[in-house]
Amino acid sequence: MKQLWAITALVLILLTGCSSGKTSTAMDGESIYKDSCAACHGDKLQGAVGPGVTNMKSKYSEAEVLKIVNEGTKKMPGNLLDEEKSKIVTKWLMEK
Ligand code: HEC
Repeated sequence: MKQLWAITALVLILLTGCSSGKTSTAMDGESIYKDSCAACHGDKLQGAVGPGVTNMKSKYSEAEVLKIVNEGTKKMPGNLLDEEKSKIVTKWLMEK
């Protein structure tokens, strides 16, 4: 009987472990931005160390923003994200 409880507990730990793992590998623009960009650009895109990044589409094309995200600038580090995440966060940012 004791063993059954141990197994049940183990299964529960594994199940909850898996579901929390899912949220931390989220691939939506907002989560990627919060993880990799918000420290410099602010959690509401208002700017902090870096400039505000709202209304980027009035200033740049999507391809230009993608290039900034991939390569960085003099003051912003490049290569923060892999190719897929850069695309997702750029698309998300262009809507803001
Ligand atoms: C270490 C701080 C830092 C991080 C992290 C960072 N940036 Fe930047 N970012 C900057 C700075 C500083 C500038 C201004 C660059 C310049 O003037 O050369 C900038 C400029 C930009 C610009 C151009 C803004 C404009 O008006 O010209 C965009 C778009 C941008 N960042 C998007 C992002 C995205 C998306 C991420 C996350 C993948 C990110 N940044 C992460 C510091 C950062």
